[in-house]
Amino acid sequence: MSFFDSTPIGRILSRVSSDLSIIDLDVPFAFMFTFSASLTTYSNLVVLAVVTWQVLFVSSPMIVLAIRLQRYYLASAKELMRINGTTMSALANHFESISGAITIRAFEEQDRFFAQNLELVDKNASPYFYNSAATEWLIRRLETMSAAVLSFSAFVMVLLFPGTFSPGFVGMAFSYGLSLNNTLVNSIQRQCSLANQIISVERVNHYMDIQSEPEVIEENRPAPDWPQVGCVELRDLKIRYREDAPLVLHGITCKFEGGDKIGIVGRTGSGKTTLIGALFRLVEPAGGKISIDCGHHYDRLT
Ligand SMILES: Nc1ncnc2c1ncn2[C@@H]1O[C@H](COP(=O)(O)OP(=O)(O)OP(=O)(O)O)[C@@H](O)[C@H]1O
Ligand SMILES: [Mg+2]
Repeated sequence: MSFFDSTPIGRILSRVSSDLSIIDLDVPFAFMFTFSASLTTYSNLVVLAVVTWQVLFVSSPMIVLAIRLQRYYLASAKELMRINGTTMSALANHFESISGAITIRAFEEQDRFFAQNLELVDKNASPYFYNSAATEWLIRRLETMSAAVLSFSAFVMVLLFPGTFSPGFVGMAFSYGLSLNNTLVNSIQRQCSLANQIISVERVNHYMDIQSEPEVIEENRPAPDWPQVGCVELRDLKIRYREDAPLVLHGITCKFEGGDKIGIVGRTGSGKTTLIGALFRLVEPAGGKISIDCGHHYDRLT
C-alpha cells in the first residue's frame, strides 16, 4: 500500500501500458532482427576470410572502430530513452485530470489544461527526437567509415598490386566487402534499437521486487470463527502515511460495541478515510492498537 501511496499513478500507468507493449510487441522482433543481422554479418566475414584472408587486415580495425562508435552512441541513447520514460510518466499523470473534467469545465479552465498537456507531450517527444538524431549521427559515421574502408581497399587492390589479382577476383572480393559493410551497418543499427527498447524491460524490472507487506503474522492469527461479536476497540491509534510524514490521526481512543451502527463525522481532511483504511490495514498504525472482538481477547496488534 505504501507503494501505491508514494508512486504517482502516471508512473505505474506508463509502465503497464507503453513499456509492457514495447516488451510484448517490439522487443521480440528487434531481438529476431538483431540475431539474424549479426548472424549474416559474421557468416559474411567468415566466408570473406576463407576466400580472401587479406580482407581481415581491413575488416578487423573496421569492426573495432564500429564497436567503439556503437558504445559511444549507446551511452547517450540509453540515457535519452530513460528520460523519455520519465517524461512519459508525467504525461500519463496529467491524464488523471480527465477525472476532474467537470470541475475544469465549470471553471472554464480547459485551455490551461490543454496547453499543459501539449507542453508535456513536447517534453516527452524531445528526448525521443534527440534519440533519433543520435541514431542518425551513428549511421552517418558508420556509413562514412565503411565507404572509406571500401574505397581504400579497392584502391590498394587495383593500383598498388597491378596484375597480382585477376579482375574477377577483385570484383568478387569487392562485392563481398560491400555486402559485409552493409550487413555490419545493419547489424549495428539493429543492436542499437534493441538496446533502446531493452530500457523498457529495465523499467518494468524495477517493479518486480517491490517489498510486500507480511500477509499473515502467524503468532497473531485469530481463531477460525473470529470475529464473533464484531466489537472494535481503538487504543491511542496513531497513523501516518510515511515514515517522515506528520501524524494524520493523533492517538484516537474509543470503543465500538458489536452490532452498533456508527457514523463518523468530520471536516474534510480530518482522517475519516484514513480511519477506515487503518481498520482494513491499508495503512499500518504508527502507534497504538486496534483490537477487534476485544471481549474475546483476539487482539489484532500492530
Ligand atoms: N495517501 C496519502 N498519503 C499522504 N497523506 C494522505 C494520504 N491520504 C490522505 N492523506 C492526508 O491525511 C489527512 C486525512 O485525509 P483523509 O483522506 O483521511 O480525510 P477525510 O476525512 O477522509 O477527508 P474527506 O472528507 O475529504 O474524504 C489529510 O491531511 C490528507 O492530506
Ligand atoms: Mg475521505
